[in-house]
Amino acid sequence: MPSSTDDVRIAAQTLRDGGVVAFPTETVYGLGADAFSEAAIERVFALKGRPKNNPMIVHVADEAMARTVVASWPGRASRLAGAFWPGPLTLVLEKADAVPMLVTAGHRTVGVRCPDHPMALALIRAFGAPIVGPSANPSGRVSPTSAEHVRDGFPGADPLILDGGPCRAGIESTVISLAHEAARILRPGAVSREDLESALGEHVEIVGRGASSAEAEGAGMLAPGRLASHYAPRAATRLFEGRDWPGVILRAPARTVVVTHEPARVGEPGVRFVRLPESASAYAARLYAALREADALDPELILIERPEGREGLWTAIHDRLDRAAAPRE
Ligand code: TXA
Ligand code: MG
Repeated sequence: MPSSTDDVRIAAQTLRDGGVVAFPTETVYGLGADAFSEAAIERVFALKGRPKNNPMIVHVADEAMARTVVASWPGRASRLAGAFWPGPLTLVLEKADAVPMLVTAGHRTVGVRCPDHPMALALIRAFGAPIVGPSANPSGRVSPTSAEHVRDGFPGADPLILDGGPCRAGIESTVISLAHEAARILRPGAVSREDLESALGEHVEIVGRGASSAEAEGAGMLAPGRLASHYAPRAATRLFEGRDWPGVILRAPARTVVVTHEPARVGEPGVRFVRLPESASAYAARLYAALREADALDPELILIERPEGREGLWTAIHDRLDRAAAPRE
């Protein structure tokens, strides 16, 4: 059942008491806590089992609140916030002293975003201050795009969850660093590089996972959010190209589940399928739920067909597919 205004009021009180609240955003569900309280943030790390070297994004209700967590607000931040906030874009800027080092994993930059979801905005406004919001999943697992996914992730812990229905965008925000001379995308997401370039009027680099750790450091970026095995289903997961079908499925173990956007594949006898839509936005919105459905079939192998699209939102989709299929540490 969708949460009510009363639930939002209770959730804001929980935040004031130093507690943790799961809340919906347009991308994925987040685990909210007072961004200025070390004790509250410790609770989020503990609940997620998150390594302390992975920084958290601070969620704000508007640009004025964003300015309270950064040391300075450059013109480029105004331009991007004006174009994409509220929305799926995280700006990495020099942090204000008041933001605990725990939030930023010891770095001098902070990621800040204003989510485009009425319930997230109502929660932040009712609380009256910024909240951290890592995705509401145990560390390293697939991000939740519904309240039920959040519940499934923390059996026994029973966190307070605001239910805003399924997430519209379905994959995490784009993270762009403005902390250096050239703007750089640290995590591709729902706002595309093309959109960012036209808003900024300059070339924007995507710092890929192939970047050296020195380059990563230079970009004010932290490896953990980009760790290969992030966003992974439980079952072994591999990607395949459509042109390699049907050889791929002939060689696959019996208990294989195929995740595909290609209607022509479905119907192969004896093979279990999870279908994805063909358009990028619908594909992204459904992707994490599809990975969970595939996992729930308890397969020996999950085979995901790589879509042909490469531009715009597809860049972020391929990033998440690569991570889902990356070797585990
Ligand atoms: O869409 C989203 O961004 C979701 C929703 C809930 O807002 N949140 C989310 O948070 O994906 P999380 O914690 O799962 O991912 C945050 C990632 C980090 O892993 C890191 O890559 C990047 O954001 N990040 C945060 N602060 C940063 C900083 N100061 N410098 C570089 N990267 C940072
Ligand atoms: Mg996450």
